[in-house]
Amino acid sequence: MTTVATRTAGTAVELHPLLAERWSPRAFDREPVSDADVTALLEAARWAPSANNYQPWRFLVGRAGVDGSDATYKGLFDALAEFNQVWASAAPVLIAAIVEVEHEDGSAREIAPYELGLAVAQLTVEASARGLHAHQMGGFDAGQIAVEFGVPAQYRAVVVLAVGRLGDPAALPAWAAERESAPRERKPLSDIAFSGTWGAAAA
Ligand SMILES: Cc1cc2nc3c(=O)[nH]c(=O)nc-3n(C[C@H](O)[C@H](O)[C@H](O)COP(=O)(O)O)c2cc1C
Repeated sequence: MTTVATRTAGTAVELHPLLAERWSPRAFDREPVSDADVTALLEAARWAPSANNYQPWRFLVGRAGVDGSDATYKGLFDALAEFNQVWASAAPVLIAAIVEVEHEDGSAREIAPYELGLAVAQLTVEASARGLHAHQMGGFDAGQIAVEFGVPAQYRAVVVLAVGRLGDPAALPAWAAERESAPRERKPLSDIAFSGTWGAAAA
């Protein structure tokens, strides 16, 4: 098996391994994720901060095993774009991250997607701590999920996450297998962190 064990980020100073070693694989192993691990991921999300402790995040959790998948997994999987279905089919867990974008009075809650992002970030770090990987996908049909699961109108699915342990890249289509070992890249710090004036590097 040609599993890639780690794809550590290149950083100017050493980061905590939970962050440096997080990445988004496409090669997943069908080995089930334990109930305790799934609960921990959701607890990590639940304990994220939000303005006024509003907690606008909601999750739909689907499980799959060697014997097949539950109805939630099937519904989430069917909503994925084909370019995600080709690799996400091996992931034992799919989680839709959903946000409440309206107050009770119908006014927009602009900050809510930011808060959902914080919750999902916590979920991904907890996944790393448990030897799991989470790959977020924006490529899916949120309307299809809304209809399939009866999601109320004030909620919107933002990402679906594939979660599990690393699998064998050889099982992937060639384009996806190549990405499993491609260099991980980011903009330099000097392009994103400024001090004094816009564009002047902070570090
Ligand atoms: C909001 C969001 C949407 C994404 N959508 C997809 C997607 O539809 N399909 C996919 O393969 N990866 C998707 N990704 C994964 C990104 O491509 C990946 O995080 C990015 O290339 C950085 O790679 P890394 O996570 O391995 O560091 C998404 C990530 C985020 C945060």
